[in-house]
Amino acid sequence: PVIPVILSGGTGTRLWPASRESLPKQLLPLISDRTMLVETALRASAEAGFAPPIVVCNEAHRFLVGEQLREAGITGARIVLEPEGRNSAPAIAAAALLVAETEPDATLWMMAADAVIADIPALHAAVDAAATAARAGHVVTFGMTPTAAETGYGYIETGDPLPGLPGVLAVRRFTEKPDAATAAAFVAGGRHLWNSGMFVFTAATLIAELEQHAPSVLEAVRKAVAARTTDLDFIRLDRAAFAACPSISLDYAVAEKTSRAAVVPASLGWSDVGSWAALWELAAKDASGNVAIGNVLVEDCRNAYVRSDGPLVAVLGLEDAVVVATEDAVLAMPRSRAQDVKRVVDRLKAAK
Ligand code: GDD
Ligand code: MG
Repeated sequence: PVIPVILSGGTGTRLWPASRESLPKQLLPLISDRTMLVETALRASAEAGFAPPIVVCNEAHRFLVGEQLREAGITGARIVLEPEGRNSAPAIAAAALLVAETEPDATLWMMAADAVIADIPALHAAVDAAATAARAGHVVTFGMTPTAAETGYGYIETGDPLPGLPGVLAVRRFTEKPDAATAAAFVAGGRHLWNSGMFVFTAATLIAELEQHAPSVLEAVRKAVAARTTDLDFIRLDRAAFAACPSISLDYAVAEKTSRAAVVPASLGWSDVGSWAALWELAAKDASGNVAIGNVLVEDCRNAYVRSDGPLVAVLGLEDAVVVATEDAVLAMPRSRAQDVKRVVDRLKAAK
């Protein structure tokens, strides 16, 4: 069976103050009453025919991750601990190297822990098609129909159908995070799809691609895996070796460069939960378009997102506003500024 690999190392900066380094968004119940990690793991469950997952996360989150998987009834998970985040290429490299020790031909389904996917049967059908292509040697992505010229995504230029692989297209070119003008041209052209952030490949294929396109990543992670220690369900990568690894995402390290790319276009009800604006889009709203969560009072507002896990928050007469409170911090902004929350977090870090 396909082995799910869940990358759970992001910090979710744009969802401050709910998302913190100590408790990042994927470990929070932001969309439903389950955390995003649990929702993600349940999409790749044993009942659905998948092998026990590998979760790659920061060592600081090991107990939370272990506990959340247990509560979700996921058994047999391997939890790979990073001493520090080096982005997604080293994280998936570690999982692939571990698997390759015993099963180099195993198929891996890498996924982010921070996406919403509404159509699970469609997802499983797409993963099936992708796994067949992966066994034929491809690095398989999933293509989402773009709805705006977003600059935070990867764009996949689709090519011809691949013979013998139903539902799978060749990839002409993969472009990670284009500038605004390029993104607009891609969306207008109609030949590009958004990259979902999920990939399917065999362990051997990924290792060969890293060897070719990111040898310094592979070399550092090889050392970190070779010198690992294991306790309980936790696999600890060697600190010094992993710290020496370049920090780079799989999108830049492999997806933009590989000649083995393929894409499964799919309609999954996918959304990236990157910002408070995205959460407002996804949430159930009242007749005035407001979302009110927790200890809040919303009076005479329109299209507001108001959330408090702390003090009573009252919001009066605002439109398109976001107000989020925790026990120790409050954020208020127009929804149009949701991408700029990072600036606040950067200032807080600089002041530390
Ligand atoms: N273990 C681990 N360690 N996981 C990490 C690390 C790390 O250092 N850095 C990021 N991740 C995880 C995140 O938690 C997330 O689940 C996934 O890797 C993707 O990282 P993001 O930082 O969220 O990437 P992105 O949103 O900028 O871009 C990716 O996703 C887009 C769709 O949401 C790319 O794949 C884009 O091409 C794609 O369109
Ligand atoms: Mg993301």
